[in-house]
Amino acid sequence: MNKGVEKDGEISYALLDLYQPPTSHRDEFTTALNSVIKKVDSLIPVFGLRNPRISAPGTYKYTFCTADEWVASFWPGQLWLGYSVTGEERFKNSARMRREYFKRVLESPAWHDHDLGFLFSLTFVADYKLTGNQTCREMALRAADFLAARWRQPLPFVMCWNPQPRDVDTFAHRKTGTLNIDSMQGMALLYWATKETGQTSYADIADMHLDTCIKYLIREDYSSYHSFEFDPRTGKPLKGYTHQGYSDESCWSRGQSWAIHALAQCYLASNKGNYRTTAAKMADYVGQRVPDDGVLVWDYDLPADQHPYKDTSAAAITASGLYTLAHCYAGHPEAEKYTKIADKILHGLVSQHDITSVDGSEGLLKEGAAFVGLDRANNMLPYGDYYYMEALMRSVGHVDFFW
Ligand code: GLY
Repeated sequence: MNKGVEKDGEISYALLDLYQPPTSHRDEFTTALNSVIKKVDSLIPVFGLRNPRISAPGTYKYTFCTADEWVASFWPGQLWLGYSVTGEERFKNSARMRREYFKRVLESPAWHDHDLGFLFSLTFVADYKLTGNQTCREMALRAADFLAARWRQPLPFVMCWNPQPRDVDTFAHRKTGTLNIDSMQGMALLYWATKETGQTSYADIADMHLDTCIKYLIREDYSSYHSFEFDPRTGKPLKGYTHQGYSDESCWSRGQSWAIHALAQCYLASNKGNYRTTAAKMADYVGQRVPDDGVLVWDYDLPADQHPYKDTSAAAITASGLYTLAHCYAGHPEAEKYTKIADKILHGLVSQHDITSVDGSEGLLKEGAAFVGLDRANNMLPYGDYYYMEALMRSVGHVDFFW
């Protein structure tokens, strides 16, 4: 565990840049990280047992998760990051107070979907990695078992969604054969399970899933589809489409960010060169589209007549993914290139969207776009907050996370 060091009367959580060219914004990002940690600390008594979901419209106040929400682990994830850098017990205790919520998820098969990775990497894997707690290790391995068991032949991937009784028949049918780009991040849980147990089957399934994602979700120009539909009975690939992006053929920025972060992280876990190369080409696509202010718009192909909502969550995930990619290229010129793009995006977030010093704000970043098609734009989002904290930590040299 890393502990802060005192510098000029202030605690600093920056580490030496051990593996990549140093960020050119070290002081700025160190100050921002310190402010983030103070804010997370101050929110522990405010949130109590609740996990933030999305901000109430027009406010910097969160609404909170009920049962079965994919975003429930991002606040515990921030608490575990806080514990990893400060060593202060209150971060750990608050994260652990949420165990019952996640135990209930494990015990409810109807709630199991491709988000098991998000839910359990940032809770039980985090606890086990930082404290050695054996119960958490077992719970995380059970989550990995449930995720791996979602592979249904003849489909060459882990099933993402579950048909629900409320779905109309056509959508229910489509759901079973749909592969989503968000699922890529979850594969880290399977690589972790192989590392823990020595059983290669978890990693084999993760490899199959990611190879299918690369083949069908990533286009020739290294932009991406949000989703790809297969015939669930025959496994025949049908077509790419979008769920949360602007259109079927556009490139949804958060989808692109999930793929870059996941592939870089999974390269570190598997050493498979194709993951690093694909992440790099997807990062090059983004590098040509970062706006002057550094902060990504919610879709890379938005027509001029559409409101260009920012998506600070996509920006934070991309920045964190690019620092991870720089780590993958340690010692190569690409490391400098991807650090530079990450710096531009993160500087944009720190200088224009960080709300940690706003009195009473319950989040770290404004202007996330959860789902523009459903009018959910301009919000604080717990995943934007989590990846912002992760990106700041990566920018100043931290390399141990829970993926
Ligand atoms: N459901 C994943 C996302 O909104 O990014």
